[in-house]
Amino acid sequence: MKNFRGKTVLITGSAGGIGRKLAIALAKEGAKLVFTDVKANDLNDAAEEARKAGATSAHAYPLDVTNTDAILAFRDKVHADVGPLDMLVNNAGVVFGGPFLEIPLERHLLTFKVNTMGPVAMTHTFLKDLVSKPEAHLVNIASASGFIGLPNGSTYAASKWSVIGFSESIRLELEQQGNGHVKVTTVCPSYIATGMFEGVKTPFMTPMLTPDGLVASMVAAIRRDDLFVLEPPLVRTLPILKGVLPQKAFYWVAQRLGVSSSMNSWKGHGK
Ligand SMILES: NC(=O)c1ccc[n+]([C@@H]2O[C@H](COP(=O)([O-])OP(=O)(O)OC[C@H]3O[C@@H](n4cnc5c(N)ncnc54)[C@H](O)[C@@H]3O)[C@@H](O)[C@H]2O)c1
Repeated sequence: MKNFRGKTVLITGSAGGIGRKLAIALAKEGAKLVFTDVKANDLNDAAEEARKAGATSAHAYPLDVTNTDAILAFRDKVHADVGPLDMLVNNAGVVFGGPFLEIPLERHLLTFKVNTMGPVAMTHTFLKDLVSKPEAHLVNIASASGFIGLPNGSTYAASKWSVIGFSESIRLELEQQGNGHVKVTTVCPSYIATGMFEGVKTPFMTPMLTPDGLVASMVAAIRRDDLFVLEPPLVRTLPILKGVLPQKAFYWVAQRLGVSSSMNSWKGHGK
């Protein structure tokens, strides 16, 4: 998507973190923002920040992406208030770090519900909007952990592998259907300083990304219709290394670089 002015952009999980930063960056470009989050408290504040930053309009709605009935009712409300979307950003996410058996099963399942089923439900609900527009974009926030096993973050990594598979498949399907004007970008960053991964030990040559830096890369990638955002640069080598190295050698390297132990000291948002 070359020009964001007047484009209606819905971002899930945009009360804070990357979602809010991306919304404000697009507000500066004159987009119409639709903020949604399960955290209702910060939403109006985020919308106000977007208006001040130059958004053509900014609406805020509490929405839990795991509640499929609520998503359907929400679509009617969004259509009545702002009309069909030009861009959907599936950003909402959760992580529960720790040894697999020490995390209650419901948290593992919630990880899939928010991170994987949420994007599927939101895309199913809003894809017709995107197809109806002459220029449209679907952005799915996955993770670098979608390319590599993550001890103490097993279901988080699994949920993001799933997002990568979903995102690539939808893109190819849209192209096959003659709907290639709906561009799809899959975002796979390593650790970002939003608090979600507070306490992790970042791997070698993988500095903690700043939210502003990642958002700048995302906006540039969306403008160029890039298929992927892989940040920092070392993440770009992951799929190549995994393809060429024997599996045991690949994970030996991952251990040496500190990827496999990075989650051992995870604290997260501390809730
Ligand atoms: N922070 C990182 O290091 C990192 C790295 C790679 C990928 N990511 C991904 O980037 C995205 C944004 O993460 P962030 O770092 O901004 O984290 P964050 O915790 O600051 O933001 C996540 C947002 O999602 C919202 N959310 C959680 N459950 C929800 C639900 N059921 N319905 C709607 N909203 C919900 C939260 O309230 C929060 O506002 C996530 O998908 C995350 O997995 C983050």
